[in-house]
Amino acid sequence: MSYNPAIPRERYNNYEDREWTRLEKDGHGELLYRVHLDILKRQVKKSDWVLEIGAGSGRYTKDLVHLCHGLTVGDISEHQIEFNKTKMEELSLSQKVDAYHVIDVLDMKIFPDASFDRIVCIGGVINYLLDKEKEAIEEMLRVLKPNGKLILGAMSFIGASLYYLEGIRSEKEQFGIEATKWLFQTGIQDEEHYPVPSKHYVHMMRSDEMEALFETLPVKIVERSSAGLYTQAGDEAIENARKDPEYWEFIVEKEIEFTKLPGTLDCGMNIIYVVQKD
Ligand SMILES: C[S@@+](CC[C@H](N)C(=O)[O-])C[C@H]1O[C@@H](n2cnc3c(N)ncnc32)[C@H](O)[C@@H]1O
Repeated sequence: MSYNPAIPRERYNNYEDREWTRLEKDGHGELLYRVHLDILKRQVKKSDWVLEIGAGSGRYTKDLVHLCHGLTVGDISEHQIEFNKTKMEELSLSQKVDAYHVIDVLDMKIFPDASFDRIVCIGGVINYLLDKEKEAIEEMLRVLKPNGKLILGAMSFIGASLYYLEGIRSEKEQFGIEATKWLFQTGIQDEEHYPVPSKHYVHMMRSDEMEALFETLPVKIVERSSAGLYTQAGDEAIENARKDPEYWEFIVEKEIEFTKLPGTLDCGMNIIYVVQKD
């Protein structure tokens, strides 16, 4: 199946406020948020012009505005852009966003070459692009300045398969073992091979696939991280941990530390790469 922009656009146009609550409604969301925020704080400088593409409702927009010099926000979904604007107004931060654009990461010709010091593309935008993943990274690198950094986050296939193993078992009963084998071989759920009723057609990625994408591009990898590693402990363990703030804070610290170890890269819910353009 090839990339169809209508799939992410329609999904996120009908998402109400779920993108805003996703990262705070439970411990799993908080783990993702805290790991990403730690990376943004270290990788974005006060003097930077930043593009946040696939920004969604603004969970990171509200933090990025304080970390950089100028922020441009883009998303393929009109609803997410409107939601993001409203949230920034509510938080009295709208003055700090230079511009909002409804755009597809694959086609950002409104921006000249070398426009930004940092591009933040996290939370799984890349997973919707299927056969266009490399093209999208090339387009982001085009608008990035030389020595600028791209912070790219993807949903992890191995992490998701660990967490959702029981769901995959029941999908095997629906779709058959050949579909299960396809999923594990490719990380792709699509209409032809793995037709989930939610129509959430994505390519969940492995770190070796991300390495292969970057290998042929003019970049050097400066950081690798997983996120949502302790999610694998299960809902009950996470929610119990969160009831004890002292313990929870310690676990979050360890999540941030352990997600940087090579052995954990594929085991969380997300994989994050920070790459620097030559
Ligand atoms: C899971 S949300 C992540 C939002 C935010 N970055 C975060 O991590 O909380 C994915 C976002 O990417 C947007 N998106 C998906 N495909 C896109 C594309 N091709 N170009 C631009 N935005 C896209 C969606 O509309 C959605 O708002």
